[in-house]
Amino acid sequence: MRRRHLAAVVRIEEATNGHPWSRDLFANELLQPTSRHYLVAMVGPQVVGFGGLMQVADEGHITTMAVDRPHQRRGIGAALLVELMELAIDAGVVDATLEVRVSNDAAQAMYRRFGFAPEGVRRVTTARPPRMRSSCGNAQHRPRGLPAATRVDPRETAHVNQRPPEGEPRPASDSGRGLILGIETSCDETAAAVVANGTDVCSSVVSSQVDLHARFGGVVPEIAGRAHLELLVPVVAQAMVEAGVGPEQLDAVAVTHGPGLIGALLVGLSGAKGLALGWDLPLVGVNHLEAHLYAAQLEHGEVALPQMVLLVSGGHTQLVKVNAPGDYELIGGTLDDAAGEAFDKVARYLGLGYPGGPAVEEAAVSGDPEAIDFPRAMVNDGFDFSFSGLKTAVINHVRRNPDEATVDLAASFQAAVVDVLARKMDRAAEVHDVAGVALAGGVAANTPLRLRIAADAERAGRQCLVPGREYCTDNAAMVAAAGWYRLASDGPSGLDLPAVPGLPLAG
Ligand code: KG4
Ligand code: ZN
Repeated sequence: MRRRHLAAVVRIEEATNGHPWSRDLFANELLQPTSRHYLVAMVGPQVVGFGGLMQVADEGHITTMAVDRPHQRRGIGAALLVELMELAIDAGVVDATLEVRVSNDAAQAMYRRFGFAPEGVRRVTTARPPRMRSSCGNAQHRPRGLPAATRVDPRETAHVNQRPPEGEPRPASDSGRGLILGIETSCDETAAAVVANGTDVCSSVVSSQVDLHARFGGVVPEIAGRAHLELLVPVVAQAMVEAGVGPEQLDAVAVTHGPGLIGALLVGLSGAKGLALGWDLPLVGVNHLEAHLYAAQLEHGEVALPQMVLLVSGGHTQLVKVNAPGDYELIGGTLDDAAGEAFDKVARYLGLGYPGGPAVEEAAVSGDPEAIDFPRAMVNDGFDFSFSGLKTAVINHVRRNPDEATVDLAASFQAAVVDVLARKMDRAAEVHDVAGVALAGGVAANTPLRLRIAADAERAGRQCLVPGREYCTDNAAMVAAAGWYRLASDGPSGLDLPAVPGLPLAG
């Protein structure tokens, strides 16, 4: 695939894929020739299909595969796959994965012929694409004509350990500023930041993979892990350069070790361990949820304690009472969908795209929040949340009123979520008699929620900390901040620190 093919490629992509990749995204993929392999199928001068593969070390993930409708069922997909696998094997790929819709029997049958076997089913709202894996080196499964796989010689990629000889003291931190390098790779954001004394952000670099995942309607773990591998070193380097510090000025490396996707967590954790070992710095493992709690105090300084934090992200909806740094009480949680998940699912149902939160918020700007009176589940009932009934109410309403304006649906849905979150937050703050409240997590970027929480707190005379939008969604500044306090309270973590996908927020 060359740039001159992109117009045709994008046309086929738009005709065959419900969530098409943009021209820019294809162009960006072509700029990375060592890790991306993209092919087009031609009939005469005409592009009729394409396929692509992302490679990291000896693993590959097929990112895209499409054949123009009039040319389907002529073996073009299979021919593309043969060529793509040959290219990949020549480049050293031994193992490959891909995603395919459960409903796409024809594609699954084709992939099976190439030795791919179902590996698991990833749940998304409307489709459930199974992951399939193939061992390219397995001759039994290799289609005719494919060369034997070549393995990367580990000696070629071994790194020399550059630690100073034993006994030679490393220069002590000369910053005196409590400088922590934070690293975050738990989901689909590769992030690094340097933060001083747990509050002053010297640099914060976030590389989002959101475009890569958008076509799948959610985060694809295989793509996330590989993209983190590619991005981690440049993102860390940029964070260091922007902060204007060298390794000798740092006091510790803090890293998210859970909760999150195991493959994604391992990339950041292994990278952080390597840096801690290479630079002779303490390593600090940070809980991603705890990190979100610290986001509110970045740039804010003094925090009134005890504090009630509403943590609302793609995976969590929690009311957490912070008595002191590291001392938390879980006051409420969600019984089903997280708030961000509800935004994502409703956005997907309404055809607004991914991630759903910003898409719903944008549509809601021109809608009427009172057009539809959606249910406020359990609003006066304890501090737990439930959002799956609201999602169902939206779907049922659309079925019964197919002509309802999408902007009104978005605005009314958003109003219901904000109302429930804010009322529970207000009551929890009152019942637990806290001095201040704070917002955290991706959904805290939502403007109506921010305004409502701030207004409620002002009325009640409580301090209200709302992080800047860039510190609501996943970032590494919050990880560095949490790491600073963890280092002070618990000391460094061992280099055997594990990645823990289901790590709970411990008090
Ligand atoms: O904290 P985060 O970046 O990642 C997780 O740890 O989950 O949160 C991502 C979630 C997504 O569900 C996204 O739709 C939601 O935060 N989100 C929003 C907004 N921006 C992001 N939800 C509502 N309004 C927004 N403006
Ligand atoms: Zn998060």
